[in-house]
Amino acid sequence: MIGSFYGSRIGIDMGTANTLVHIDGQGVAVKEPSLVTVRAGTGEIEAAGRAAEAGAGRTPRKLRTVRPIRHGMISDLTLCEGMLNRFLRRTDTLGIFRRFRVAIAVPGELTEVERLAIVESVRNVGASEVLLVDQVLAAARGAGLPIDEPRGRMVVNIGAGITDIAVISMANTVQTRTIAVAGDDMDTAVAAYVRGKYQVLVGERTAERIKIQVGSALPVAEPLTVIVKGRCLVNGIPREVALCEREIREALSVPVQHIIMGIREVLEQAPPELSADLVETGILLTGGSALLRNLDRRITAEFGLPASVAQDPLSSVIAGLAHQLKRLRSRDWRRFGHPS
Ligand SMILES: Nc1ncnc2c1ncn2[C@@H]1O[C@H](COP(=O)(O)OP(=O)(O)OP(=O)(O)O)[C@@H](O)[C@H]1O
Ligand SMILES: [Mg+2]
Repeated sequence: MIGSFYGSRIGIDMGTANTLVHIDGQGVAVKEPSLVTVRAGTGEIEAAGRAAEAGAGRTPRKLRTVRPIRHGMISDLTLCEGMLNRFLRRTDTLGIFRRFRVAIAVPGELTEVERLAIVESVRNVGASEVLLVDQVLAAARGAGLPIDEPRGRMVVNIGAGITDIAVISMANTVQTRTIAVAGDDMDTAVAAYVRGKYQVLVGERTAERIKIQVGSALPVAEPLTVIVKGRCLVNGIPREVALCEREIREALSVPVQHIIMGIREVLEQAPPELSADLVETGILLTGGSALLRNLDRRITAEFGLPASVAQDPLSSVIAGLAHQLKRLRSRDWRRFGHPS
């Protein structure tokens, strides 16, 4: 096989909520929650991904469910490597005689220390070369935008931990901003609202379910309600509450407003020629939180620019990495990679 000396080429989108792995020539081989279950005494990883998710919030005392990535950044290097290792083992990539190169998506604004942490964790699982790819560019490419053109376009990737906002032109970001507000903050806001108004505690996953089922960034025509169970703070007993769309829209208003403010800042700072292009090219929303009901319409209403959601926003980044892996030549890896 041509190129086999360098082994497989792998794309990784290691997000706060979900990790996706694409193997060139094979397709998406891993699509799992970024979660591990850890044994409390030894720190040993018992399960990763979906297997860890099944027990989240329900683990016995000797086990803990941990998210090794917070706000788009590695918060626990050892657990992150352990998780990646388990995911890659399932793909038959790892092995003493196996070589592989990794292109990994990263947020637009990163410190050198954060970049190094990502490179180190990927090298520690066995990659011979690592290429860091700006995730908004990957998302734009994956969503099918012709980003090589000399035309201004705006992409907003709203994940679980971060929102990456960029104006791009000629396959580069021209103006960017990364804010640490995204889907997780929406869940926290929903849980805080239910606690404040009904004195009922709901877990993270229930809060996420409420957001997905009845959350909206603008009023909806049809009445939406959801019934959830939580623990009553007053008497400690499980209780049911019914929540409607208007309440959850109110709960979500603060994180949604933060995202709008971030977009406004980037729009204000973009070079005038490129901003003029946006009237036609508009704003593309990617990342799982782009699926929040009516978020595209809300952004259009705020800025008077056409906004749309990518066809499969949870997979835009990995699709872009897959596309890029095919185009990379050996010298690109040497130029951008971090060889030891
Ligand atoms: N229908 C939906 N409505 C609202 N939010 C949704 C919907 N579906 C998924 N989400 C949210 O999308 C987020 C996950 O998206 P994604 O997988 O793009 O994030 P990530 O890449 O793991 O995180 P990040 O890029 O911030 O590190 C979660 O917060 C989830 O609740
Ligand atoms: Mg992401």
